Amino acid sequence: MSYSQAEKYPYLIKNIDGSLRISFFSISCHFLIIKFMSQILYKQIQEFYDASSSLWEQIWGEHMHHGYYGVDGKQVKERRQAQIDLIEELLKWADVKGAENILDVGCGIGGSSLYLADKFESNATGITLSPVQAARATERSLAMSLSQKTRFMVANAQEMPFDDNSFDLVWSLESGEHMPDKNKFLQECYRVLKPGGTLIMVTWCHRNTDKSPLTTDEQKHLEDIYRVYCLPYVISLAEYEAIAWQLPLNNIRTADWSTAVAPFWNVVIDSAFTPQAFIGLLMAGWTTIQGALSLGLMRRGYETGLVRFGLLRGTK
Ligand SMILES: C[S@@+](CC[C@H](N)C(=O)[O-])C[C@H]1O[C@@H](n2cnc3c(N)ncnc32)[C@H](O)[C@@H]1O
Repeated sequence: MSYSQAEKYPYLIKNIDGSLRISFFSISCHFLIIKFMSQILYKQIQEFYDASSSLWEQIWGEHMHHGYYGVDGKQVKERRQAQIDLIEELLKWADVKGAENILDVGCGIGGSSLYLADKFESNATGITLSPVQAARATERSLAMSLSQKTRFMVANAQEMPFDDNSFDLVWSLESGEHMPDKNKFLQECYRVLKPGGTLIMVTWCHRNTDKSPLTTDEQKHLEDIYRVYCLPYVISLAEYEAIAWQLPLNNIRTADWSTAVAPFWNVVIDSAFTPQAFIGLLMAGWTTIQGALSLGLMRRGYETGLVRFGLLRGTK
C-alpha cells in the first residue's frame, strides 16, 4: 500500500440497512498505519538527503531548489544565479523587506537560511531531517561568519520543537512535498509564527483537479515521482490555500510559477551526466542514482501540466 492510499484508508463501516457507522477499531488501525508509514518515510527522507547532499553541493551548490528564469521561463542565466533570483523574486512577491528571526523549514544545507540571515542581518534557524545536512549547514555558517546568528538542527517539521509565536518569517522552500500531513505541517508553521509575521511556503503540487480528476496515467506518473524523491503525496495549490484559510492565515496570496522554473530541470539533467557527476553518483549509492535517472519525470510533469510549482504567502 502506498502512503497516498493509506491516507484515504476508509474507517466508515456500512450497516446492513446501508447507513454508515464509524469503526473505532478501524480508526485506531488507520492512525497506527499512518504513524508507522510516516516513521518509514522520515527514515527514507533522512537517508536520501544524508546520501545525496554532498554530491548535490559539489555539482549544483548550496541551494537545493529550482531556479527562476523570468515569468515566461525564457531568461538565460547561470544556474546558481537562477536559484538566488528565485529567493529574491519570492521575497518581492511576498512583500517581505526584512525579518528579525527566521525559521527555515526543511533547510537543506542552509542555502536559504544563510542567504536570508546575511541579507536581513537577522537570526535564522534551519531544521532538516538529515543530520548530515544539519552538520554541513553549521560548517557553512562558520565559514561565512554567521554562526552567532544562525543555528541548524535535526527536527521534524510536523512536530516542531519551538514555542508558539517564535519567528517573524517562516520560510519553507520545497519541503512541503515531503510532509505526510499537509494540514499538520501548515498548522505547525502557523503556530510558531509571531502575530504579524509572514509565512512563505513554496512547494511541488499537482494540477488543480476541480474541473477534472487526475487520470490513471497521471496518478501513475505522480507515484513514480513520489517513489524516487521520497514524497508521500502532493496536493494542488488550491488545497493548500483551503488549509491556509482554515488556520486562519491573513492576507493570503497564491501563485503558480511552473513556467518560470520549469527550465531548471533541463539544466540539472545536462549537468547530471558529466564525468564528475557520474563518479559522485556511483559513490552516493542507488537511491541517488535512481533520483538522477528519473530527472526526466519532473521535466515531463511540467511539460504535461501535471506538476505545478505552487507559492503560498500569508500573515498571522
Ligand atoms: C529539496 S530539500 C530543500 C532544501 C532547502 N529548502 C533548499 O531550498 O535548499 C528538502 C528539505 O526538506 C527537509 N524535510 C523533509 N521532510 C521534513 C520534515 N518532516 N521535517 C523537517 N525537514 C524535512 C529535508 O530534510 C530537506 O532538507
